[in-house]
Amino acid sequence: MNVLIIGSGGRENAIAWKFSQNTKVNKIYCVPGNAGTAALEKTENIALKEIEDIIAFCKENSVELTMVGSEEMLVEGIVDKFQENGLKIFGPNKKAAILEGSKAFSKDFMKKYGVKTAAYENFTDYEKANLYLDQCPYPTVIKASGLAAGKGVVICQNKAEAKTALEDMMLNEKFKDAGKEVVIEEFLEGVEASILSITDSKTIIPFISAKDHKKIGEGDTGLNTGGMGVVAPNPYVTQEVFERFQTEVLEPTLKGLNAEGMDFCGIIFFGLMINERGVYSLEYNMRMGDPETQVVLPLMESDFLDVIEAAMSGKLSETEIKWKKGAGCCVVAASGGYPEAYTNGYEIKGTENVEDLVFMAGVKNEGSKLLTNGGRVLNVVALADSLDEAKKKAYSSIEKISFDKMYYRRDIGKIK
Ligand code: AMP
Ligand code: GLY
Repeated sequence: MNVLIIGSGGRENAIAWKFSQNTKVNKIYCVPGNAGTAALEKTENIALKEIEDIIAFCKENSVELTMVGSEEMLVEGIVDKFQENGLKIFGPNKKAAILEGSKAFSKDFMKKYGVKTAAYENFTDYEKANLYLDQCPYPTVIKASGLAAGKGVVICQNKAEAKTALEDMMLNEKFKDAGKEVVIEEFLEGVEASILSITDSKTIIPFISAKDHKKIGEGDTGLNTGGMGVVAPNPYVTQEVFERFQTEVLEPTLKGLNAEGMDFCGIIFFGLMINERGVYSLEYNMRMGDPETQVVLPLMESDFLDVIEAAMSGKLSETEIKWKKGAGCCVVAASGGYPEAYTNGYEIKGTENVEDLVFMAGVKNEGSKLLTNGGRVLNVVALADSLDEAKKKAYSSIEKISFDKMYYRRDIGKIK
């Protein structure tokens, strides 16, 4: 079987690594991939950008299954285009991808189907939104409805901050078209959890829970990033929390998918907030998380490709996903300066001395050297019997790696 993965991050490196363990897999094409995917057995990086070119490549090279890492192409409708060409692809069609592509749509969906979520209002009119800010409670959260690479959410402590954020989004087009519509919502205190899941639209099977660390600074301070580290299982997702997630978020979501005729096979990643009032759905992502995937897939005992094939043939209800015992910890090494300006091109040393997993993200090859080539550079992932041991292993491994201006958080997995 030949498969193709679209993307170039640590997430795609982890997916390729997991796929490569399936004995049916002959070849894994990564579009465009990175230095990590290039180094795996059975893989080949292919430099393509346009959906039409990828479709032509799949036809010419007998690609039997395609998986898309990040959200942009899904929202653009890559799944529909592949299907029109008779090609198999795992992911939401355009109609379902809107659950990630429009926060306003997904909030209305949650409300309509009784998925527990923060109180909110949607606005396409700046004046109306501005008036609303005069009477809403603070802190409040303003979100650009469209895709903004994880940057379109502003937590506003007071009215002045909120007015600036609203102006930036709706008048100054800080997030381009993504900010033409905004969601203004109730601020929720609590701890966050990521629960990825797989669905064939009849069944949703949740994966092991994970905890991302979105802020650049230790103690969850500073700017938001794509994610600076993950632990799994999430220590805050107790059995009780999980059950509440199932009844108050997962089950009504499945009902909504069916009622809306969103018929697809793919991933749903539930972004959750847990507090004493319950388990809230903050958002849906219709793809795997980065860096959640880098820990979740190594902890998956089952073969991921077999699970995906079960979903694609509508047999998820008969499928069980097995998980390894113990826990995992992923620490992200970033370029100094990220998530703001940073410099690329520094040589990365020491990865060959690491016994734990290393998934590359912003890394390119130059001859035999590895050079930094992005904000989030690489992920060190350790598994162990306990979370404490996994953290210790991950940190002792990352210390063996070095590059100029390397930065990582030293408190991944710290329990408050
Ligand atoms: P989202 O893209 O909707 O998940 O938002 C990005 C991040 O903003 C989340 O991971 C939370 O840290 C934060 N956030 C979003 N909505 C809320 C909310 N209603 N209350 C508190 N924090 C929030
Ligand atoms: N780590 C969060 C995300 O992938 O959106």
